[in-house]
Amino acid sequence: MTHHNSKRFFIGGNWKMNGTREAATLLANELVTAFEPLAMSVDAAIFPPFPYLQHIGGILRGSGLMLGAQQVSADANGAFTGQVSAEMLLDIGVEIVIIGHSECRQLLAESDELIGEKVAIAVSTGLSVMLCVGETWQERQAGHTEAVCRRQISAALKGIHLDHMGAIHIAYEPIWAIGTGRSASPQDAALSHASLRKDIEDLYDPSLAAATRILYGGSVNPANATSLFAQPEIQGALVGGASLKAADFASILRSASQATSSRPN
Ligand code: 13P
Repeated sequence: MTHHNSKRFFIGGNWKMNGTREAATLLANELVTAFEPLAMSVDAAIFPPFPYLQHIGGILRGSGLMLGAQQVSADANGAFTGQVSAEMLLDIGVEIVIIGHSECRQLLAESDELIGEKVAIAVSTGLSVMLCVGETWQERQAGHTEAVCRRQISAALKGIHLDHMGAIHIAYEPIWAIGTGRSASPQDAALSHASLRKDIEDLYDPSLAAATRILYGGSVNPANATSLFAQPEIQGALVGGASLKAADFASILRSASQATSSRPN
């Protein structure tokens, strides 16, 4: 099988439940322009709200910027009011989907088991996955960060065959760092990434673990991106708030491009 190149950074813009059709259109157009000189060196996706997906997909076409969705059902079809299936996402041009975001784990009470089912149906349908894991502040204070992440990643990847792992990216998003302006330090993030990589190694094998891209998420902004990306364990970022400003997201993309070129092959 072909593993993706883990040296290449992956930057995701999770727009969450923000914006209007007009604002989303403007932002997507600005990002297409900003991404043009970077498309050869960085992988990137944006995750607009569901109602704008198809429209934004049209704007992104041919730009290299991937279209992502923020959520997917664990079921294939049927009487699931309000849910959206993996097949539907694929059908309208979505390439990647966020699964296990802490906001969904907490606000929608998504369990580890449900998240595992979502990952399974997404990859078997042909979508790539941005799988989010991360601990609360309380769990960190209690020294449980690595155990919590291990539990989450093991459940999420349960039953996922090695051949599908090339389609899965991990986003380490410590919950206390999300939307707080208080990013994890590059060192703390790197420790968690290394521990997650060890978990993947235990679940699969060392070469797959080495090839899997692990992104950091939680208050990433233009000012802290460069120091985060200087950590070899970090292969990208999942950006919330700063992804809503074209100039900020473009700056983070440029930091990733520069970090890529300074890494050994
Ligand atoms: P912020 O960048 O706003 O902290 O959000 C991070 C996040 O949750 C991305 O999925």
